[in-house]
Amino acid sequence: MDSKKLVELAVEAMGRAYAPYSGYKVGAALLTAGGKVYLGCNIENAAYSPSNCAERTAFFKAVSEGERDFVAIAVVGGKDGVMEGVFPPCGVCRQVMREFCKPKTFKVILGKPDGFEEYTLDEMLPHSFGL
Ligand code: THU
Repeated sequence: MDSKKLVELAVEAMGRAYAPYSGYKVGAALLTAGGKVYLGCNIENAAYSPSNCAERTAFFKAVSEGERDFVAIAVVGGKDGVMEGVFPPCGVCRQVMREFCKPKTFKVILGKPDGFEEYTLDEMLPHSFGL
């Protein structure tokens, strides 16, 4: 699957975001080595801290279904679901990616209104911690 298609799927996932508190809607599309795509959106909560980011929703869905081998993730987001530029993953989500992905080869694709930017996880999270 190409990056453009993965970004389109992330946009679809963004449409399912539950973000009544911040208003920021985020979508992610996670591609496995087997070619399956797991979608995720952010899910907020009135108590704030139980909120979950779109990227982690996608990872936790996939890992809990037995997936362990990942190729790329596309992420999009914006206020009220309107993209104004890239919406880069937070540090916690980058560390979750680091747990399951090879930093040198896993691709983080950041969608924006006029296309996308592509980085390796190593570029997004240099000198990362893992066991
Ligand atoms: N958010 C994500 O879904 N992914 C990120 O990597 C950054 C932040 C969500 C969390 C919250 O629901 C909203 O964006 C504003 O922080």
